[in-house]
Amino acid sequence: MLYFKKKDIMFTGIQPTGLLTLGNYCGTMYRWRNIQKDYQCFFCIADLHSLTTFKIDNSKYCFSSNILDMVALYLSCGVDPTNSVIFLQSHVYTHSQLYWILSNFVYFGELSRMTQFKKRLLYNNTQINLSLFSYPVLMAADILLYNTNCVSVGLDQKQHIELVKKIALRFNSIYENIFIIPDILIESIGSKIMALQNPKKKMSKSDINVDNTIFLLDKIDVICLKIKQSLTDSDNPPQIVFNPKKKPGISNLLSIFSSLTNTDISILEKRFKFYQYSSFKKILSDVICDTIFKIQQSYIYFRKNEDYLIDILKSGKKTALNYSKNNLKKIFSVLNLV
Ligand code: TYM
Repeated sequence: MLYFKKKDIMFTGIQPTGLLTLGNYCGTMYRWRNIQKDYQCFFCIADLHSLTTFKIDNSKYCFSSNILDMVALYLSCGVDPTNSVIFLQSHVYTHSQLYWILSNFVYFGELSRMTQFKKRLLYNNTQINLSLFSYPVLMAADILLYNTNCVSVGLDQKQHIELVKKIALRFNSIYENIFIIPDILIESIGSKIMALQNPKKKMSKSDINVDNTIFLLDKIDVICLKIKQSLTDSDNPPQIVFNPKKKPGISNLLSIFSSLTNTDISILEKRFKFYQYSSFKKILSDVICDTIFKIQQSYIYFRKNEDYLIDILKSGKKTALNYSKNNLKKIFSVLNLV
């Protein structure tokens, strides 16, 4: 089990609903290596959240291939398991318990206004389960259990984290100041990577059109092809300028470039002013492949040693449980549940 130094806490999580994407990377994972210098970090694999849309039917699920892939990818993006905690949400029962308690501090109207929920409702209004509706409350439990000071997420999660803050403030105003109110860490560029064939919607792991998404484990030639075929805008002459409303295709590609190279968009616009889309895409492919190739090399190394990955999850479970149990105890106590 890990012993913590006195540092602020950062919490983040990803659902294991599919293979991780360039969107997940640019939205949050790219900063994981460095953020560990300043924060004590908790990296959660949010499998209970995945239940909202995905049925688990494998009896050996908790160490299944998909989960171990994720642990190996977390490590490949620089998470150091000797300093940070990597754990599976379903291993730590305190999350479900706090979820129920917090459900009493959030209103139907607030959850109904969540954009992600409303989108699901539009897409399929016959099979909406209660857990999809209360999804942000489980996020609140995840975050608030660990005295989290900041949460690293992409833009699509901003509204959920704002609600988490509201729930925490509401609880604090009735009881003691139990919860820390977390800050949201969202980059201005890269926090919403769009689908390659339809840059008006978000790049997603679960997109049925795989050409919309770059997966971190895609073959390098597949990535080049996906970028080459990505939808750009039909202006004449083609111009490499950032304008998400009028030119969503090229703006999305510029965001990816900027995020992966940590270069201002304005500098990229100047650099590529006289380029054709095809030449720009070729250079962008090299940038993406360079990043992803390094992740994949590391992934191959870590993924071979399943025992090591399972040990990381077992140790993460112990630390997360130990840490969160103390906090849950305080919450039970102020509610007179003990
Ligand atoms: P998930 O798996 O949907 O997304 C994981 C993280 O990746 C970010 N992300 C993106 N960022 C930029 N562009 C994209 N196209 C893109 N797609 C995804 C998401 O914003 C997110 O940061 N509900 C969370 C998982 C979770 C969580 C938590 C996060 C559960 N509990 C507590 C933070 C704190 C989610 O969106 O997973």
